[in-house]
Amino acid sequence: MSVKISPSVLTADFLTLSDDIARLETAGVDMLHLDVMDGIFVPNISFGVPVIKAIKKHSTVPLDVHLMIDRPHRYIKEFASVADILGFHYEAGSPVAETLQEIRDLGCKSCLTIKPCTEPEEIFEFLPLCDMVLVMSVEPGFGGQSFMPSALLKLSKLKAECERQGLNIELEVDGGINGETALQAVEAGATVLVAGSYLFSDQMEERVKLMKSL
Ligand code: DX5
Ligand code: ZN
Repeated sequence: MSVKISPSVLTADFLTLSDDIARLETAGVDMLHLDVMDGIFVPNISFGVPVIKAIKKHSTVPLDVHLMIDRPHRYIKEFASVADILGFHYEAGSPVAETLQEIRDLGCKSCLTIKPCTEPEEIFEFLPLCDMVLVMSVEPGFGGQSFMPSALLKLSKLKAECERQGLNIELEVDGGINGETALQAVEAGATVLVAGSYLFSDQMEERVKLMKSL
């Protein structure tokens, strides 16, 4: 089973996004990664449900929604109506188990996300409620940052713990992924790679292909 690719549209040109989505889907990406930022949990504001709804009309792959918002449990219902995989931050001030369960009850796959300051051991108890875990390899908030190698040990610890608990959970990594760091992440246990600035370039198709071959 090859690694899955989830392009982050954060650095895309939003007025021509449907063309890029078509190119990415033809190139074989597995999902689209949509970064929702509220200017409170992270120091940046991106987009919300209306934009995701518009993207949904133009895409055929699942939508992987990454909420970077404060107390996300307040908005789970709204985002679950447009997401296929819905993730929120462990650090964002929501009741973790209840929020994961609500996401599943609403028919989405659940994803728990950890910032670089969070150790993977802190979320081991929630793994049975997760369909995916997202390990941030940059401080959330902006595209185009450098990969933090500390994410690699977190991925391998999570992989080992999932095996120990007999769970089949996707391990996603997000931030600073390029040809080189993608390989390191896959070797550490990542099964889903998020990439923004690396893919939104004039070499989009070649880079998807290269990542898929890892
Ligand atoms: C950062 C976002 C990422 C970001 C990745 O907060 O969660 O998804 O867009 O961008 P690159 O791949 O450029 O680091
Ligand atoms: Zn993201």
